[in-house]
Amino acid sequence: MDDGIRLRPGTHEDFPAICDLLGVVFHEEFEGEAKAAERDVFEPERSLVADDSGLVAGHAQAFSRELTVPGAIVPAAHISGVGVQPTHRRRGLLTALMHRQLHDIAAAGREPLAVLWASETTIYPRFGYGAAASRLTFDVMNREVRLTVPPVEPAGRLRMGDPFALLSDLGKLYEQARAGRVGWSERDDRWWRFVLTDAKDDRDGATKRYAVVHDGPSGPTGYALWRVKHAWSHHGPDAEVQVREVVAADPGTYQALWRFLLGIDLSRRVTFTMGAVDEPLPHLIDEPRRLGLSLTDSLFVRLVDVPAALAARRYRAPVDVVLEVEDPILPANAGRWRLTGGPDGAACVRTGDPADLTATVTDLGAAYLGGTSLSTLTAAGRVRLLTGNDPSLAFGWHRAPSATEVF
Ligand SMILES: CC(C)(COP(=O)(O)OP(=O)(O)OC[C@H]1O[C@@H](n2cnc3c(N)ncnc32)[C@H](O)[C@@H]1OP(=O)(O)O)[C@@H](O)C(=O)NCCC(=O)NCCS
Repeated sequence: MDDGIRLRPGTHEDFPAICDLLGVVFHEEFEGEAKAAERDVFEPERSLVADDSGLVAGHAQAFSRELTVPGAIVPAAHISGVGVQPTHRRRGLLTALMHRQLHDIAAAGREPLAVLWASETTIYPRFGYGAAASRLTFDVMNREVRLTVPPVEPAGRLRMGDPFALLSDLGKLYEQARAGRVGWSERDDRWWRFVLTDAKDDRDGATKRYAVVHDGPSGPTGYALWRVKHAWSHHGPDAEVQVREVVAADPGTYQALWRFLLGIDLSRRVTFTMGAVDEPLPHLIDEPRRLGLSLTDSLFVRLVDVPAALAARRYRAPVDVVLEVEDPILPANAGRWRLTGGPDGAACVRTGDPADLTATVTDLGAAYLGGTSLSTLTAAGRVRLLTGNDPSLAFGWHRAPSATEVF
């Protein structure tokens, strides 16, 4: 690169300097428990450093994890730790890091896609990442909503405790659920520690995190994670219950967990920032407006190997379509591909046949999890449908994609 800056793989020794860089660019301090959890999941060989004479001037890393996609679980590079020193910004360092990282993932041939969360949504589409999933944020006036469904009989039992003490139950329940939840990432022990890290400095005055497990007649059927931010106003108690995660194997468990969370004494507000777009909760209560819903983006998806990625997922309806793909960064993806398949599997091969649809790799990434319709992208003028053979229905899925954690 210009100015003698070179890209190189990271090492364990770089870890403190990488944390310092990320602390500077995200305007926070990376210390204590949070830093230890980051160190635990750090994969130095998948970390890329922009090195300016010994200074870590820029960084991007990938984590090796699985991701649930429609009808399948695939290895996906989970991209994170992206930052460039304020003194080095807008000189092309991020561009160089992103290009190199994508070429490395493609060359390794193990992961057909990459996923990330964006600090600013403008940053990643130029590198082929499309906004593939959204999340609902809940800000519930909990004293003003009632569940409209009667409690399920026989009632299960709730067991409350420290999340780490209940980890074997949480891990099993999450593992059972994730196969059916598009957008959820694999969690091994290191990732559970990352998710459950609960540094006091990051709580903004709230309690430690609690877990509650719901036990049915045959064992655990769900759990919730939350904390409480205690407050009193001139009206009296005014606490906020901050829900982190709710995982339920059946509707009765889901209802029981939300009945519990919405009813915690001394609270007047329940917030939940990781709701799925198709979260069942609004259909369970009498006054959904009091849920205070707002919508924002979550996962961005980048197809690194277009034919492998398209063949890896399943389709909601039979599909036989020729897609013409633009990908200036990874030209092996560019050109025409015939995608055939349906609910039981798919194949994707190169073809010389005329295209039914043209799309950039960014738009295909946005449509890949079934949460952004190709019809919507066509209506926006981003995707061009050239024939009557419209694959929009096939690319959809019966549940919206959602994500459970920022990695
Ligand atoms: C985002 C960040 C990594 C960009 O690094 P950079 O080296 O300045 O990026 P580049 O010089 O390669 O910029 C590439 C292009 O993206 C644009 N761009 C990059 N970051 C942008 C941002 N935050 N907002 C708007 N545009 C941005 C640049 O203007 C440039 O566009 P151009 O090619 O049309 O001129 C850096 O600004 C940063 O560290 N930000 C704070 C931390 C952060 O948000 N990290 C991302 C976490 S998901």
